[in-house]
Amino acid sequence: MIVQPAQPLRGTLVVPADKAICHRAVFAASLAQGTTHIRPWPSADDCQRTLQLVQQLGVPVTRSSQGASIEGRGAVGLRASSGDLDCGESGTTFRLAAGVLAGQPFAARLSAGPSLSRRPMRRIVEPLSQMGARLEGSGGSSAFGAQEVYPPIAIQGRRPLAGIRYEMPVASAQVKSAILFAALFADRPTTITEYLPTRDHTERMLRAFGATLHSDGQHLSIQPGGLMSPGEIVLPGDVSSAAFFIIAASCVPGSTVTLEEVGLNPSRLTFLDVLARMGGRVTTTSRRLRGPGDDGGGEPRGTIVVESRPLRATTVESREVPGVIDELPILMVAAACAQGVTRFHGIGELRVKETDRVQSMIRGLRQLGARVTLPAPDTVEIAGGPLRGGVVESAGDHRTAMSLAVAGLMAAGSTTVQGVACVAKSFPEFFEHLRRVAGSSTVKTVDTVGGVG
Ligand code: S3P
Repeated sequence: MIVQPAQPLRGTLVVPADKAICHRAVFAASLAQGTTHIRPWPSADDCQRTLQLVQQLGVPVTRSSQGASIEGRGAVGLRASSGDLDCGESGTTFRLAAGVLAGQPFAARLSAGPSLSRRPMRRIVEPLSQMGARLEGSGGSSAFGAQEVYPPIAIQGRRPLAGIRYEMPVASAQVKSAILFAALFADRPTTITEYLPTRDHTERMLRAFGATLHSDGQHLSIQPGGLMSPGEIVLPGDVSSAAFFIIAASCVPGSTVTLEEVGLNPSRLTFLDVLARMGGRVTTTSRRLRGPGDDGGGEPRGTIVVESRPLRATTVESREVPGVIDELPILMVAAACAQGVTRFHGIGELRVKETDRVQSMIRGLRQLGARVTLPAPDTVEIAGGPLRGGVVESAGDHRTAMSLAVAGLMAAGSTTVQGVACVAKSFPEFFEHLRRVAGSSTVKTVDTVGGVG
């Protein structure tokens, strides 16, 4: 994809439905009594993985242009699959499915694509084993020296599991969610202690399906028990996808962009606090809900309006990182366009995403002329300044590809982003949307033999 320096960005966009919320809706719907209609269906490839996986476990699914209807099998209705459950590159599918399978009275094997097969799984194996399931993965040493566990993972589930008290050693919503799904099949309540809050979509979704959860902000308890379908779940737009346009419109002078029907769950909006500290101008307006199901599993939504402003540097503290985990790459682009030196502390988790995003972003931004330093393995400093065009590489990572494309809008000269097919993982329409707000001459496709279209 070739990106040219942008004229002011203008227009209104509706980003695809939130994939994180969709995964939770599919798993909850599969375990519930009754049929659940989920719409609109996210275009992200990852959600299709979750849908296929529950089908392999015997859950009837009907897809339409509107969305998906899932006939819940209730607490005892899943059945063993004859083959591997292939999660592709979807980490959320893998980790949440592990939680669900831990509580089933049968064996299963979760497999993964090449990139997900290198991502750490000990973080789910430990708590789910404590609950009584048997999980066996392939071993190997992690980048941090400790013995890690990697996919594929064979799971021998158990019913009932033991309810546990668990202190999260790593701030991860996927791990928390795996434990919460397993806890539905436990013999007593489970309590999870989170030192740093992570996104709370699973808590909201399980409540919408009738589960009993209590949280005091740090300790989260869940009672075991069956789920009941609320009938319909209307998903909000993915605010992490909206973030690329929010930062783009903040940085390109003269821009105004409106994003409609976006999820406004506070646990996903920390990046807006960071942007506000940088001087960004973003207005969010929550919409009143139209009726049952419209809250998409207890998820607020509304409109975001962004106007460009000159940005200044800030410091992103370690405690903020779980709240901005998926927006760090695009916040690094904002930092490259801001006045002064922005510091990102405690970003080690970014190294175990689809790729090492610390590396892929540093490499890409340096290629475009940004001054980036790495004073410690989990700290990055970016000095804002003019960017120049160049050739950059996605490293097969969707968020790196989209972030570097946005950086290209601000660079003098043209920027070629190589390996952009990976954006389909979360946001297949990204470049179409970018063309819509930036103009079709700003974003051009170049095929592998060099033709420009
Ligand atoms: C997700 C949690 C985060 C995030 C990922 C989606 C989720 O991962 O990076 O894109 O849906 O729970 P971690 O739980 O590994 O932090």
